[in-house]
Amino acid sequence: MLSLAVLISGSGSNLQSIIDKIEEEKLKARIKVVISNNPEAYGLERAKKHNLKTEVVEHQQYPSRERFEQELIKIIKGVGAEVVVLAGFMRILSPLFVSTFPHRILNIHPALLPSFPGLHAQAQAADYGVKLSGCTVHFVDEKMDNGPIIIQAVVPALPEDDGDSLGARILRWEHRIYPQALSWLAEDKLKIQGRKVFLEKEMKPFLGPIEEPGLVSPGLEKDFF
Ligand code: GRF
Repeated sequence: MLSLAVLISGSGSNLQSIIDKIEEEKLKARIKVVISNNPEAYGLERAKKHNLKTEVVEHQQYPSRERFEQELIKIIKGVGAEVVVLAGFMRILSPLFVSTFPHRILNIHPALLPSFPGLHAQAQAADYGVKLSGCTVHFVDEKMDNGPIIIQAVVPALPEDDGDSLGARILRWEHRIYPQALSWLAEDKLKIQGRKVFLEKEMKPFLGPIEEPGLVSPGLEKDFF
């Protein structure tokens, strides 16, 4: 059973999707702690509703990024979590943090990386006028929004979209692909070679229903749709 520490800063809807798949027994993992740098994060309420341990570590209270991260590391190691799940965590993590959990930190980004890294990716994509966007789950390395890609989902982008409308369409797929990526990790099905992540199973691309068009990179299982 994979032990997770989930780091959030806001609404925590991705956290919720992970909790739900665990409770449905589709994802063989347990959440050891939910950590927020923002005491107002609604995700903390979600965690408490499910009796999960929560911690608030306010970055402003620490004299340096290093001290802030040392506190995160202490909590994560203290609860025995093996994998760090960044779910809308709005702080950049330094090489010190990343090297503490090599290939054991995952992130979700609301764009098709390497396009539109950084903040407000949904608005960046909408304003650029792309016709397709989506979301990406990747391993975290020392560069921002950069590590090896595990799974991506593609959705249509419309000329009338703004960041909010495109973001809402993307978010529904985030909630599918993040639990799926974690499930592969829990089942030890992911092998990393350089930038590439190989999935040790039969791989077929997944097409969403016509009412909700979307295309997921090969492998999505029906438990996660
Ligand atoms: C998501 O769009 C995620 O991709 C990005 O931050 C947002 C977090 O949303 N990194 P939530 O807090 O999980 O609802």
